[in-house]
Amino acid sequence: MGVFGYIGKSNAVPVLVGGLRKLGFQGYDSTGVAVLEEGRILVAKSAGKLAELEEKLNGRIFASTIGIGHTRWATHGKPSESNAHPHLDCHGDFAVVHNGIIENYFELKEWLIKEGHLFRSETDTEVLPHLIEHFYEGKLETAVRKILTKIEGSYSLIVLSRQDPGTLVAARKNNSLVVGLGEDGYYLASNFSPILQHTKNTYIMEDEEIAVLTREGAHFTDFQGKAKEKILYEISWDPSAAEKDGYDHFMLKEIFEQPKALRDTLAGRLTDEKVVLKEMDLTPEQIAGFNKVAIVGCGTAYHAGLIGRTLIERWAKLPVEVDIASEFRYRTPLIDERTLVVVLSQSGETADTLAGLREAKRLGARIVAITNVVGSSVSREAHDVIYTWAGPEIAIASTKAYTTQIEAMILLALYLTQAKGTMSKEWIREIIAELKKIPDKAGEIFTQVAKVEQLAPLIKEASSAFFIGRGLDWSVALEGSLKLKETSYIHAEAYAAGELKHGTIALVTEETPIIALATQRDLYDKTLSSVNELKAREAKVIGFTFEGNDSFGQSVDEVFYLPETINELAPILTVIPLQLLAYYVSLARGNDVDRPRNLVKSVTVE
Ligand code: M6R
Repeated sequence: MGVFGYIGKSNAVPVLVGGLRKLGFQGYDSTGVAVLEEGRILVAKSAGKLAELEEKLNGRIFASTIGIGHTRWATHGKPSESNAHPHLDCHGDFAVVHNGIIENYFELKEWLIKEGHLFRSETDTEVLPHLIEHFYEGKLETAVRKILTKIEGSYSLIVLSRQDPGTLVAARKNNSLVVGLGEDGYYLASNFSPILQHTKNTYIMEDEEIAVLTREGAHFTDFQGKAKEKILYEISWDPSAAEKDGYDHFMLKEIFEQPKALRDTLAGRLTDEKVVLKEMDLTPEQIAGFNKVAIVGCGTAYHAGLIGRTLIERWAKLPVEVDIASEFRYRTPLIDERTLVVVLSQSGETADTLAGLREAKRLGARIVAITNVVGSSVSREAHDVIYTWAGPEIAIASTKAYTTQIEAMILLALYLTQAKGTMSKEWIREIIAELKKIPDKAGEIFTQVAKVEQLAPLIKEASSAFFIGRGLDWSVALEGSLKLKETSYIHAEAYAAGELKHGTIALVTEETPIIALATQRDLYDKTLSSVNELKAREAKVIGFTFEGNDSFGQSVDEVFYLPETINELAPILTVIPLQLLAYYVSLARGNDVDRPRNLVKSVTVE
């Protein structure tokens, strides 16, 4: 979750612990530091909160002025002391802290083990110190540059070496890393928060850049070794803004993190032809034996499950039921060993979801969990786990957890589809090619943030708002309305667009904002008819659709055009402006965006 490094004149241990305190603001599961002292790398680690690490360090006198530290949010391997960073090579020559995912770690680890390296953790990160050990020929910078040609994935990493005792080497790719230039030394961190207490002067590392820090100075190169000129920035954020990477709220920060979270969730799981879910332990025969799928979750997770239903039925041709977890047990579901049960939970600790999982297990079903928290109860009790690599979600309103849950459902649906052979190989290739573009398309939406902000005043004073759509748009409408109600406290409901005329349209007046979603091409015309019915009752309609759907765009009062994608992948994009809309309406109403009233992040009571 956060890397930190220091080289300078001060005692490194208190500097590192102070930095980790800032980095691990919330949501980490283990911590560790490594310092260089009398020619040895000394490591202290702890599973749990920073206080436990401090306890371990208490009473030990350190005189080191160089070191690295880490707060971990588990990805590969459960939260434990052995999986906590820093990780060492075989002989304690190199220590590494790393944020991100090494996608090809498995192959690298197998190779390194054959070369005689001894691994002590389940992490992807541990391949890094062993690789450095393998390629080291007298200069740390050169060895790090060499290993970067071997690893695939995303990373911000810092390396400490007893062979090059006055040097820290850092590298970043698709992750963040900044360097602080203080009076007492240099600081390296995954965000500004641990640096700002020491200095406001910073260098921002760019993608595919290496930094080499010594007590004499910092120099930067690209991955090929070409020197880079850097601009020194003065950061004026206050410390609380720094914890949120400069965003005003965690909700906004997490909305903006979605391209990265989406990219990380796909990482290592797609070739050009197929989905690879190494974590699933199902044979094609077992998959062929399932006669239905049951999906269980609460709130936002339930909404992601609704999307999963459409995809699995449409592609894998398996019947699917979706239940709100708190209702699942009470309707005596017809579940047995031929049922694949998918349990969705960001936290992995929601009591209703856990109770549903246990009931399904008691009935003999095979359980797949989709969760964001490694080692959570749901992940421990399920037979298979697909992790969403969204990183910690702090805001109560779920945003990046939802879009990555949809992605995980897409991966699972494709995994079942390819095993059952229900769609052609060519078709799977096309979906995969488009899926790979989704993180960038999610990023494109942020060029239109101002447009969403301008829509907030149209909703801010409303006492009631309706979200409508058909097919997958209806599922997204449910999530959009939940976002609005939980953050703004405006009564918001989602309806299948065709159902409005069977009663609800009686509630619609010119005072009722309607958010109409139209991304399903085969349903454009039908949704347009519903919009026209609403317009005839003087309702104000805000439409969300793809460029080119002109008849729809011209029929609504305001229109937001989304980046084009295929129908089934559209929900990931459609929800992003709805999340932003909820955020800006909540802000305009002066609400506590990150901590809405009466809500907690994880509901651990039934
Ligand atoms: O941790 P979980 O995914 O199991 O949580 C389920 C719901 O409590 C959660 O999605 C809730 O609905 C969100 N706060 C909505 O934004």
